[in-house]
Amino acid sequence: MGTANSWITWEPSLSIGVAKIDEQHKELIKRFNDLGDAVFDGRGKEEIGKILNFLADYTVTHFRDEEALQELFNYPGLEQHKKIHAQFVSEVQTMISKFEAGELDTDLVVKTVDAVGAWILNHIKKEDMAIGVHLKTKQAMETKPHDQEPAYAEDTQAEEAQPQDYSSQMDSQVNAPPKKGIIKRFFQWLF
Ligand SMILES: [Fe+2]
Ligand SMILES: [Fe+2]
Repeated sequence: MGTANSWITWEPSLSIGVAKIDEQHKELIKRFNDLGDAVFDGRGKEEIGKILNFLADYTVTHFRDEEALQELFNYPGLEQHKKIHAQFVSEVQTMISKFEAGELDTDLVVKTVDAVGAWILNHIKKEDMAIGVHLKTKQAMETKPHDQEPAYAEDTQAEEAQPQDYSSQMDSQVNAPPKKGIIKRFFQWLF
């Protein structure tokens, strides 16, 4: 444990290569360290409880965003990842209930907080890192091979081979999303 502010530290080796998720992990670690400091400083039950809930709320937000991202990119480990997240949320909720009921003495709080920190680090290094690898592979597949082609080239050829039905062509042109462009822009936003 040592001194305050040294519970866990974000470092480049924790980067999963997705800037948006890395930013959230930094915030998660910051909130965790605030909790560590509060416990380390022996601050009151009310304040520790507040910080604990602040961390728990952000955890839920982060997990939701991370799961949405996995869903969007058809990550094959999504269901397993969701279970791991849900298990953690449930353990943290139990911890908060016990803390609020006064069932955790100082030693136990310190031990529990230590365990939460270790869980966060391990989870980022293992399960979250795997999402980063998946997204990088997808990004390489989705953006590189088509960069030189006009986005509409394949569609135009396909339409020429079809019987002429101008109204349906117009509909499809209006409604068809510029899929490749969107995916490319989304990746630019993510990384
Ligand atoms: Fe995760
Ligand atoms: Fe995460």
